[in-house]
Amino acid sequence: MFVITGATGNTGSVVAKTLLAAGKKVRAVVRDEKKAQALKALGAELFVADITDTAALERAVSGADGVYFLSPPDNVAKDFINERKSLTEAQIAALARAKVPHVVVLSSIAAQHRDGTGPIRSLHHVEQQLRRAGIPSTFVRAAYFVENWGAVAHPVKQDGVLPSFLALDVPVPMVSTADIAKTAARALLEGPRGFRAIELAGPTDPTPNEVAAAAGKILNRPVKAIQAPLEAVVPTFTSFGNSQNVAALYREMYEGIGSGHVAAEPGNEKARGTTTLEETLRALLG
Ligand SMILES: NC(=O)c1ccc[n+]([C@@H]2O[C@H](COP(=O)([O-])OP(=O)(O)OC[C@H]3O[C@@H](n4cnc5c(N)ncnc54)[C@H](OP(=O)(O)O)[C@@H]3O)[C@@H](O)[C@H]2O)c1
Repeated sequence: MFVITGATGNTGSVVAKTLLAAGKKVRAVVRDEKKAQALKALGAELFVADITDTAALERAVSGADGVYFLSPPDNVAKDFINERKSLTEAQIAALARAKVPHVVVLSSIAAQHRDGTGPIRSLHHVEQQLRRAGIPSTFVRAAYFVENWGAVAHPVKQDGVLPSFLALDVPVPMVSTADIAKTAARALLEGPRGFRAIELAGPTDPTPNEVAAAAGKILNRPVKAIQAPLEAVVPTFTSFGNSQNVAALYREMYEGIGSGHVAAEPGNEKARGTTTLEETLRALLG
């Protein structure tokens, strides 16, 4: 039996469906049962728990052959990295008490670095904490989500403009959440292999100019990428409701992408998804 956290989210829902389609038993951990009726109809057992409640998390994962674990965003945190470090320490202690034999984590490229990666620093701690706890783990180190472009769907559709904090003509590894989920499901089915890191990107590494061109093709209108200055990251992210602390972390991440610090760790297993940029953009712009 596999336990899926974040089962109502972008990746968790697809991990759960992929395992159910493979004939596996799935326990979906959800906060709100109403959001998971489709999974229930497909045969998933629903387990209602807030995963910040570590006693509930321990109960949720007991008896699992493998757990899909994600550390959901907290856009309003005052001190995201330290708050998250304490929380994941307690969550991983709960997984250890439940003697979970394999954890598959939604991690990120650059999680090998302790510093200079913004929110990805929290995933560095998760990986380190799992190693210290001695729980066999697969780190699915996902590239920049293609779905992040959904945040600019409005100016793309309305004005034909795709604002980007990434350099316009530099290829960026990007992956769709569907491919992250498929990779995570495959890792759960393969079972534990000690500590394993999979550096995951999409079928191509597009530039933002190419993302704009793909959006233009879908919308049948010209779409132009424009480079937004890094000074605009904090005001933009706070205007979307993120705390100052979280917004500053995103600035650090974009600086890290620009400098090449936020990149896959050489020497690890590499994988590429099959979902095209166009497929995911079409859904975002639909
Ligand atoms: N964006 C990127 O480019 C990128 C790249 C690499 C890695 N990542 C990592 O990807 C992860 C997040 O992925 P995402 O944004 O796609 O997630 P998401 O799909 O938004 O999923 C979040 C899920 O977690 C659930 N959840 C949130 N808080 C919970 C709680 N306290 N108890 C139980 N369930 C809870 C949500 O449930 P509800 O439906 O109840 O809200 C939802 O199912 C982060 O760790 C991030 O660092 C992101």
